[in-house]
This record gives sequence, C-alpha cells and structure tokens, in this order.
Amino acid sequence: MTLEGLEKTFGRGTRVVKGIDLHIEDGELVTLVGPSGCGKSTLLNLIAGLERPTGGHVRIDGRIVDALSPKERGVAMVFQSYALYPHLTVRKNIAFPLEIEGLTRAEIERRVAETAERLGIAALLDRKPKELSGGQRQRVALGRAIVRRPTLCLFDEPLSNLDAALRAQMRVEIKKLHESLKATFVYVTHDQAEAMTLSDRVVVLHEGVVAQEAPPREIYARPANLFVAKFLGAPRLNVAEPSVFGLASRARGRDVLVGLRPEDVTIGEGSPPETAPNGRVYVTEPMGGETWVTVDVGGEHVIARAPADYEASSGTPVWLSFDPSRALLFDRTTEQRLET
Ligand SMILES: Nc1ncnc2c1ncn2[C@@H]1O[C@H](COP(=O)(O)OP(=O)(O)OP(=O)(O)O)[C@@H](O)[C@H]1O
Ligand SMILES: [Mg+2]
Repeated sequence: MTLEGLEKTFGRGTRVVKGIDLHIEDGELVTLVGPSGCGKSTLLNLIAGLERPTGGHVRIDGRIVDALSPKERGVAMVFQSYALYPHLTVRKNIAFPLEIEGLTRAEIERRVAETAERLGIAALLDRKPKELSGGQRQRVALGRAIVRRPTLCLFDEPLSNLDAALRAQMRVEIKKLHESLKATFVYVTHDQAEAMTLSDRVVVLHEGVVAQEAPPREIYARPANLFVAKFLGAPRLNVAEPSVFGLASRARGRDVLVGLRPEDVTIGEGSPPETAPNGRVYVTEPMGGETWVTVDVGGEHVIARAPADYEASSGTPVWLSFDPSRALLFDRTTEQRLET
C-alpha cells in the first residue's frame, strides 16, 4: 500500500493530514503513533475509504483506490469500540460478513470454526456479547475482521478499552495473529509501548505530518528530533541544558539540548568524579525489578535507575552516573538531533 501526498482538510480549513508519503510492504506490521489529535484516525479512515482525501492518493496493490468504497477496497477494520451485534451470538457475529458475501453454509461454518480456534474463543460461540468480558469481546471483533481473510487489516486503538494486563496479553496475540495471517497490518495507537513492541516499523505522526518512520529499535536509538525522542520511551527521555549533566553547551557549532534515556542514568555509588551532576532525591518509585529515582538537579528533574532495593528519603543528596557517549544532542533551535 502506498500513500502519495495524502491530504485531508475538513470543512473550510481544518487541515488535519498534511501531505503524507508512505509505502507499506505486503505483510508488514506498521504502527501509526502520535499524541491525541495528530491525525491518526483520519489517516486510517482515508486508507479504509471511510473518508475521501482532499489531495493525493491511496494505492493498494498498485491501483489508485480513491473512488472505491471500504468494501470494494477489501480491507478489514477493527475499532476501539467492538461494535458487535448485541442480539446475535458470537458465532453469528463472526459469520456476518461471510453471509453478506453469500458463501455456502458449510464454508461459513468452516471459516468461523477456524477463526474462533485461532483466537481462542471456540468455547464461546453460542454466547451473546453481553455474556463476554471486554477482552473476549475484542477477540470476537478481531474474528469478525479476519474471517474474510483480508490482505490488509486496519486497527484503530483496538486495545484501549482493556485493562493494562489484558492489553499486554492481547498485544502479544495480535503479533502472533499477524505472523500467522501474513496479512498487512496498519495499527493506530497513542501507546508508545504498543508501537515499540508490535511493529516492524513505527511511523510517528506529529500534527498531520510524518515526524519519522523507522524500525522500533532504530527509532528509539536514533530519533530524528526531540519530539520523537520524547514520545517513545517510558519513563520519558530526560531533556535538559547541557550544564545539568556537566556537558559543554555547544556541539558541532550548535547550541544544544541534551537528552538522556532514564535507563542510561544511574544513581552513583561511592565518591563522585568532579564533573558528576549532583542533586537531591525528589521521589523514588519501586518498579519491582528496579527502582526509578527522580532527582532534582538544580531545579531540573532527572529520572535515574537504581537497584530494586534502593531506598532514599526525599532530599537525600545523590550524584548521577552516566556514559556521556549515550547522550542524545539536539539543536536547540530546530530540535533536530545532531549525529555524534
Ligand atoms: N469530521 C471532522 N471535522 C472536523 N475536524 C475533524 C473531523 N474529524 C477529525 N477532526 C479533527 O482532526 C484532528 C485529528 O483527528 P483524529 O481523530 O485523526 O486524531 P487522532 O490522532 O486519531 O487522535 P486520538 O488519539 O485522540 O484518537 C483533530 O483535531 C480533530 O478535531
Ligand atoms: Mg483516533
């Protein structure tokens, strides 16, 4: 699938999608990620055919599909709200798109059984949606989308109604589903963890334009700019004046800001080297396997990592240890990352 200079302006001037060029290979799993309102759903709706572009084109299998309805495009969509038919059983809900297509009863039964098996809901086929948990309902919605064996599946925040544990579990299942279906998945989320864990490629959107597209590890290690660097990663990237980290204020002839991932900063032990930044513990957060420590360094909050059993009351003086080669440097004016 290819997007060519895709634009969407609503009404008399709300320009939401601002010229997006993007190529997605067959069988790829691409996540579209970005803050609320950046145009993710609009972009997905343009791909699905639920919205018409005001500029540019959508190509599927080489063909411009701008004039085709969602059905004619042969794409499947899964939304945050499950939108199941409440009066129909799970079996009937999943079978519905096949009945519209007019497949034989035997073929429908075979496909529903295969799909239910794949999603682990075979035992629930005779229940109504109201007799299911949220996770089970979302599985049925997934089933209804994939039962037609689509080659392109579009997801708009399908897991955001689920609790954290279930979300993590369904995330894994969607990844496995993608592996076994070998279909192309375009997956919208504002959850950076979902984007990082699921994707072959992450596309970060910022105010209707692509801020960066790259595989998860690369986009995390080599973010193009401060926006992308801050969006991916939890806890969030530490960003501060170079002086906070005891670093020079200029690099490559530019005034810079310094970014350090929390996992690259630790609470120092023993006596500090002369240049080490120091401050006072602001708050500690035990995470189980380790402890996150927010340190106040001259008024700036810097998050650092400490062992699981680390304890310190707020106000305790500490120093920060990090490898300066891990620092990300950003041009202060353009906010682009400088190659180091
Ligand atoms: N039909 C419409 N008419 C006018 N403006 C719209 C319309 N649909 C969306 N918008 C605006 O377009 C912008 C992008 O909306 P969109 O739903 O694509 O964002 P999103 O990235 O999916 O956000 P979220 O994470 O909150 O779902 C928003 O400012 C929204 O108010
Ligand atoms: Mg949305």
